[in-house]
Amino acid sequence: MYRIEIEEVEQNDEQIKSELHSQSLFVVNEWAKKRFINNLFETQAGVKIGLAYFKERGFREGTIKKFDLGFAPDDPKSLTEAALHEKHNPEFLQEVGLTTGNNNDFFRNRVMFTIHNLTGKAIGFAGRNMGDHLKQAKYINSPESEIYNKRKVLYGLFFAKNEIRKLDHCILVEGYTDVISLYQGGIQNVVASSGTALTTDQIRLLKRYTNNIKVLYDGDPAGVNAALRGLELILAEDMTVRLVLLPENHDPDSFIKEVGPTEFTRFIEKNEKDFVLFKTHLLLDEAKGDPIKKATVLKDIIGTLAIIKDTIMRSMYVKECSELLKIDEKTIFNEINKLIKKEIQDKNFQRLREQNVDAVLEKLPDDDDQKLDNSLFWYFLMNIRKEKF
Ligand code: CTP
Ligand code: MN
Repeated sequence: MYRIEIEEVEQNDEQIKSELHSQSLFVVNEWAKKRFINNLFETQAGVKIGLAYFKERGFREGTIKKFDLGFAPDDPKSLTEAALHEKHNPEFLQEVGLTTGNNNDFFRNRVMFTIHNLTGKAIGFAGRNMGDHLKQAKYINSPESEIYNKRKVLYGLFFAKNEIRKLDHCILVEGYTDVISLYQGGIQNVVASSGTALTTDQIRLLKRYTNNIKVLYDGDPAGVNAALRGLELILAEDMTVRLVLLPENHDPDSFIKEVGPTEFTRFIEKNEKDFVLFKTHLLLDEAKGDPIKKATVLKDIIGTLAIIKDTIMRSMYVKECSELLKIDEKTIFNEINKLIKKEIQDKNFQRLREQNVDAVLEKLPDDDDQKLDNSLFWYFLMNIRKEKF
């Protein structure tokens, strides 16, 4: 009607097949999710072990239902047999990891946490051990599958996304129970990276909703120091990072349970620190006036500042760090520029080398075996190394 041409994206056979395959995996997971939930509320073991455990942890029934928590009984084949009985494809069951290679249930005697994608579909599960066998891991997770890529998922984001956008910041915690407890306490802009170190993919996912991340750490400075590196990934995406150290021996879940939501929020607001300044203080403290150590601190901080791409944000930090480190701003800027220049050079070097290798490869026969045998290939490679670099 408006003479605007709409390009139709036609899926090729391959894409259609993969889409259908994913759909089948979702169906299996959705079925399993319902089964875990049913186990929790409707079976004797589920109520006695699983539901009792969640209630003992302070989770209310509404919370348990909202987060699709469930239970997997201590039975080697309970889920697998029921699934086969209902004509689910055993290959799909194995692919999403609900069934092991020996056709046993993967999750046994565990309370179950459903892991949702952004539209709320079950893409995987985590199970917390209910037995006291020390041999078994406290938590086990669904393996990666076509629908579950751990590096691209944040636990709780489906529930948190609107609140994150509204409050324009996100609270990042470590565990499943931390997310659920905070959410129940009314702090609903909370997600966990759960089990893996934070990845750039996860950070970019958050960037769709906010530029500000607040990280809550279990309070022990030794652990924090090691974790600081991971947070630079957030800076590299031009987002701000603040961090809060919780009192010793507390994780967010235990702390909110002890002091309640109001006090919890007050504690965070009072104790949150900007990541760059926190790091500068921490390293300076450790150097304690030793000039050689201080030089190392300086290099470290300059490295951090160089990661920030946004120039306005960077100069604000340079100003503050210059005061803390007692080095003039100009020197810091010079050092940052040197680092950035070097990085660009390194990248160009890498690209040039790849291009040259590609150019050589193009001239050679397609057959890989022949390529390896071809002395010309080696001759070219050697020449690239010698002449260009
Ligand atoms: N985790 C994991 N696998 C493990 C241990 C931990 O994936 N074997 C992940 C889970 O996401 C867990 C988080 O790391 O929630 C934090 O671990 P931990 O502090 O040990 O557990 P909590 O979440 O505090 O659980 P709980 O309070 O039940 O002990
Ligand atoms: Mn805990």
